[in-house]
Amino acid sequence: MIEKKENAYHLRTARCSYFVSISPIGKPICSHFGGPLSGDLSSLVFSPRLVPGRTVVYDQEHPEIALPCLPLEVSTRGKGDFSTPSVILEGEGLLPLDFVFKDSRIQTPEAIPGYPNPRNAEQELVLFLEDNANHLELELHYLTYRNENVIGRYSRIISHRAGKTYLRRLSSCCLSLLKQNLALHAYRGGWIDEFHEEICPVTSSTLLSSSATGSSGDLRNPFFYLSSSSGECFGFNLVYSGNHEEILEKNPMGFTRILNGIDSSSFAYPLTKDQPFDSPLAVLGYGKDETEMTASFHSFVRRCVLPASHENAERPIVFNNWEGTYFDFNEAKLHALVKKAAKLGIELFVLDDGWFGKRDNDHCSLGDYEICKKKLPHLIKGLSDYVHRHGMKFGLWFEPEAISPDSDLYRAHPDWAIQIDGLKPSLGRNQLILDLTKPEVSDYVYRSLSSILSKDGVDFIKWDYNRNFSDVLPSEGRFAHDYILSLYALLKKLREQFPDLWMENCASGGSRNDLGMFSFFDTGWVSDNTDSLSRAFIQKGMIKGYPPCLMSNHVSAKTSHQTLRKTSFGTKFDVACFGVLGYEMDLNALSPLEEKEIAGEIAYYKKGRKTFQFGTYRLLEDFSCDGVLFQEMEGKDEIYVSFVRLLQQPNAGYRKFPAVHADENAEYAFSVRPETIDFHRFGGLVNQVSPIHLKEEGALVNLLSQYKGLDSEKFSGTVSGLALSSGALPFPQEWNGTGLHEALAVILDFGGRVYRFQKNVDTEEKKA
Ligand code: GLA
Repeated sequence: MIEKKENAYHLRTARCSYFVSISPIGKPICSHFGGPLSGDLSSLVFSPRLVPGRTVVYDQEHPEIALPCLPLEVSTRGKGDFSTPSVILEGEGLLPLDFVFKDSRIQTPEAIPGYPNPRNAEQELVLFLEDNANHLELELHYLTYRNENVIGRYSRIISHRAGKTYLRRLSSCCLSLLKQNLALHAYRGGWIDEFHEEICPVTSSTLLSSSATGSSGDLRNPFFYLSSSSGECFGFNLVYSGNHEEILEKNPMGFTRILNGIDSSSFAYPLTKDQPFDSPLAVLGYGKDETEMTASFHSFVRRCVLPASHENAERPIVFNNWEGTYFDFNEAKLHALVKKAAKLGIELFVLDDGWFGKRDNDHCSLGDYEICKKKLPHLIKGLSDYVHRHGMKFGLWFEPEAISPDSDLYRAHPDWAIQIDGLKPSLGRNQLILDLTKPEVSDYVYRSLSSILSKDGVDFIKWDYNRNFSDVLPSEGRFAHDYILSLYALLKKLREQFPDLWMENCASGGSRNDLGMFSFFDTGWVSDNTDSLSRAFIQKGMIKGYPPCLMSNHVSAKTSHQTLRKTSFGTKFDVACFGVLGYEMDLNALSPLEEKEIAGEIAYYKKGRKTFQFGTYRLLEDFSCDGVLFQEMEGKDEIYVSFVRLLQQPNAGYRKFPAVHADENAEYAFSVRPETIDFHRFGGLVNQVSPIHLKEEGALVNLLSQYKGLDSEKFSGTVSGLALSSGALPFPQEWNGTGLHEALAVILDFGGRVYRFQKNVDTEEKKA
């Protein structure tokens, strides 16, 4: 809902308000972004009375007003505002800008041309500003969304100037918060190490987080949030997949300025006279605490961003052959995997890289989508039919934006790759990027995909993107942005042609997991790192801004290919189940016991899938407290709590479950998910229970452990919701080096567990 009263505008959602007004000097200011407001808001309008000391005042008519003393919604240099400007334009040099309010309109929302637009936009406020001296118009757009607790913001600029005008920065959002002790939570990392949370205090030094890699990138995700000392959280994201920047700084008056938008370090967009240029959409989410802020983003992404065709659809359980076979597969090998996957309860079989051209390694063939008949004599259709006959959906890997220098496509069209004429281009994973801004290139990619998707029985594609930009002329300050808009146009066309296709976003893992891509993709591959401990860190970062129904998590071989750390399948499942579950390993190397374990995990997941994928997430205890991570996913009548620990402590004593968000009037039946503990983990101690002597790594232990393991602890009972939410439930006693008991939890280093708390409907009915 958007209300206008005199020169003030109140954007109101169920749990937050955004209150913006026009100051006497015609500058829009935001007096409140935070908890909900109602009633008479006139006294909230920020109106400074005396300008401190030597501050530059804006004009003589308003000696009480100086720009640094206002919570500005747009900021430019030249009139006494010394914080980072939100708009920068260049003509013959940098233009001295000064936008003032002209008019406003509350309207039915209009789509931003060229970008993906979130659904369910309810109302739109447009503030029209002008800079007459420079012949410029600026529009600030604000959007509300039906039943969502977020605000959308973007900016539009129109130049009526004669001569060359370059846009060097147009922030999507410029906001000044008057909150003390804000801390920035940013998500940073690299390949196989995405979404690490970095927390730093906001000070007067400028904090810059940006990506100039050509994509949103794994170095810094566009999602971040600010927490205040009272626990309130202010989250920000962009519906954009290209270069981005987030700038934060506190000015002497106590305002923290927050800017986000397209990265300005590599941006110089030539404006066409009288033609508008739009920034991408920024999304602002508020919560009185972190859980509420996260819930606002989860709900918005699920209902407004992710493709409508699968909005509430449960995501299928995937098998992907990548870590199981890499490039080394043939039809017989795949058939054996298909049979095993079907037997275990898998629902979607995905064939990864290596099915086309001469692609036996990552040095060639990207761009040549001719199916490799040596590996697949009955082609893709033969395999998809086989998978379908086994009751599963079929998925296929593509890397549509890439081209290998060793490919027929490159030999025919070297100019289709992004590179600078006459210079040897830099390769990334032995490949180049196709220049999608060229219509003929986009068209080739579209035709290649669409011909396979139309006839080969493909239900799902994994769309990969495995390198960053290089070799772009510095003078091409518009290229990276044009590339992203061309990518969106291509994705839109494909989505329109194949609305029911499941699509997974991947960029060497999580290098382009952002709201722009998730406007077209149902899920995203979180990371190429499938080690459970690494994943616990990565996932707990990503889930702060992105809902679990789009986070694709795979259980892989016990010895991680990325860290060489060994963890049980049980632990890997305990981490992977908070999201979209999948398996990625050589299923034919599993022992009978492991097969049983995995089939059990899949059945367990199917029962709780709705909660695992669509539940309300809460971080209950972070690793930093006690080396353990407790997280919660709350569904309709059940709660799952997952536990992961760093290192097993000697005789570690006792602990309780942290306070879980339970219904205080209900009773809950609880149980631990049963796991199997490998005999090997007990070393020579097995001899304490074995009738015959067993050697620690001996043949007999090896043979035995193929069929039998030790059952994990027994832990079940009932507990009141009030006791649960008071944090009163004792955690099972853990291994203390003294002996075994059926109730003793042997969780080990980097180990985990999942607990289910089921709301006892019977008891509730009785009470009523
Ligand atoms: C990237 C992806 C992997 C896999 C390989 C195939 O690294 O992230 O999951 O698909 O490419 O080459």
